Amino acid sequence: MAKCLVTGGAGFIGSHLTPRLLADGHHVTVLDNMATGQQGNLAAVADHPNLDVQVGSITDQMLLADLMRGVDVVYHLAAAVGVKLVADDPAHTIETNIYPTEWLLKLALQTNCRFFLASTSEVYGKNPKERWTEDEDLLFGPTSRPRWAYGCSKAIDEFLALAYHRKFGLPVVIGRFFNVVGPRQVGHYGMVVPRFVDQAMSGGPIQVFDDGAQVRCFGHVEEVVDCVYSLMETPSAAGEIFNIGSDVPVSIRQLAEEVVARVNPDVEIVHIPYQEAYGADFEDVRRRVPNVDKLRNTLGKSPTRSLGEILDDIIRWKNSVK
Ligand SMILES: NC(=O)c1ccc[n+]([C@@H]2O[C@H](COP(=O)([O-])OP(=O)(O)OC[C@H]3O[C@@H](n4cnc5c(N)ncnc54)[C@H](O)[C@@H]3O)[C@@H](O)[C@H]2O)c1
Repeated sequence: MAKCLVTGGAGFIGSHLTPRLLADGHHVTVLDNMATGQQGNLAAVADHPNLDVQVGSITDQMLLADLMRGVDVVYHLAAAVGVKLVADDPAHTIETNIYPTEWLLKLALQTNCRFFLASTSEVYGKNPKERWTEDEDLLFGPTSRPRWAYGCSKAIDEFLALAYHRKFGLPVVIGRFFNVVGPRQVGHYGMVVPRFVDQAMSGGPIQVFDDGAQVRCFGHVEEVVDCVYSLMETPSAAGEIFNIGSDVPVSIRQLAEEVVARVNPDVEIVHIPYQEAYGADFEDVRRRVPNVDKLRNTLGKSPTRSLGEILDDIIRWKNSVK
């Protein structure tokens, strides 16, 4: 049994990872300030004897030092996330996403514990390649556009984690998530799938930003969590970066149509300019598709559930909590 700390454990991905760790017999401490997560996300395991939920912030150094005592594995998921939240408050994004990561890495050194860093496809910025491999160039827009603060902050985290691996041998694994979706994800911070499903379920219209030709890949959270856990159990993954997600490209218009077909064929799809949603200085990434060969070669698996299956699962969940 390992003693695990899951920062952001009451969030969307954390609330799927935590039950998985508990089911495998580990002890889990969740640290979450409930900024975008909620206690209810962990309802199914709330009374589990090996779970301890601490409501507090990763910016609280004393608390972190206390919680890190005796920890074997850290899953660092807590972050300021969501296109809208980040565009609205880039300073908060940088403070939440950089300094606590450095402090956690320092604490991890004391016990040489294994460390998973949740990074993002946003670190590739607007690199124009069809598919991104892990050693691709990072291509951010100007600092006058706040949305790049998120990808930049995660890139700094990656530099820090890799430096701790190279300098001190800390066993860090970096996962770059590509549009993770599934039950318990909420739409109000700019996540596209729950937003579309909510809009369709309340009679529409579904609001597609811009022309809808933007391309994304949607991976089911349970498969993503399974990959994260497996990577942390694979010694050769230490010191490495992995793209984690589906590699099947889907346009945003196509996503909207699939949601309409499943929820209510009468719902209208409308297109609105980005600026209306995120302000005048917003800039989007047109295409975001990973190469997941490294993940497959390391684990022998990668997320493969189809968009249809994923949407069915999300709609089932939405209906169950209505
Ligand atoms: N969902 C995706 O598609 C996706 C894609 C790329 C990267 N990621 C990364 O995965 C991680 C988890 O994201 P998620 O989708 O589950 O989002 P989420 O918002 O549901 O989870 C983040 C959690 O961190 C918590 N948190 C935020 N600030 C905190 C603080 N100061 N102290 C303690 N807790 C704090 C939130 O309350 C929330 O529970 C994040 O690091 C995110 O950057 C997610």
